[in-house]
Amino acid sequence: MINLLNTIPSTQAAIRKEIGNGKTIGFVPTMGALHEGHLVLIRRAVAENDFVVVSIFVNPIQFNNPDDLAKYPRTLETDLKMLESTGCHLVFAPSAEEMYPEPDRSEFDFGKLDKVMEGKFRPGHFNGVAIVVKKLFEIVSPHKAYFGEKDFQQLAIIKNMVSQLNLPVHIVPCPIVREPDGLAMSSRNTRLSPKERSEALIIFKALSGISENYSWFIPDGVKQLVRGEIQESPLFRVEYVDVVDTETLQPFEDWNDVEHAVVCVAAFIGSVRLIDNIKLF
Ligand code: PAF
Repeated sequence: MINLLNTIPSTQAAIRKEIGNGKTIGFVPTMGALHEGHLVLIRRAVAENDFVVVSIFVNPIQFNNPDDLAKYPRTLETDLKMLESTGCHLVFAPSAEEMYPEPDRSEFDFGKLDKVMEGKFRPGHFNGVAIVVKKLFEIVSPHKAYFGEKDFQQLAIIKNMVSQLNLPVHIVPCPIVREPDGLAMSSRNTRLSPKERSEALIIFKALSGISENYSWFIPDGVKQLVRGEIQESPLFRVEYVDVVDTETLQPFEDWNDVEHAVVCVAAFIGSVRLIDNIKLF
């Protein structure tokens, strides 16, 4: 039976008891509207830890677009039902007042990491993510925390924050979980109309296509090709396509300049913003 808690003290007390009994704590932070992608992370956490905590909190301070925040799906009842089969032990679902009794004005410095891609198009987003994840880590005290690679830049930011603050948590990156046709799973997919849902697949087609033959082109050529392919659909408005170093997230000119590269995309289809990425090497 999953324990659902809404307050910080009750959550800390429950987890402290488990830690006192020598249990290892796995943690999967989410904003709810759970889908199979989340469940994969949670099942992995259950397999690798004694006690698993899932947080469900739509963090207002990471939304730079009030409309996106208002439309973000909130499905706590269904989420709890889905969690029952995963074996997770505790769900922490606080209110905004519980998390932010007063505004948190912390300012993180991520150097160049948050000046590109999502950070460039969503000012303040990663500062809001870092504030809430740090707070959640303080509440949950996890040994391991699980993050999906779909949010590739978020993962880099969180690793950087953990290293800057010397937080005693091991960050576990988890591969993107895709629908059978290839669309990256996302809570925002539920907002796609049937036509948008079928067109959305273009992103994955463009990315998987280029991952086969990127070496025929220079990195900038790869960007143009992927952008062009997605924009062939009139439903799409591409925000960015970037080819970057997987560590620094900075663009580069020659394949030999980096050890590992990833192509990252953000695009609107109608009013829904989708992101995806694929590692090239
Ligand atoms: O990836 C998400 O769902 C959110 O950004 C996170 C990590 C739960 C922080 O609100």
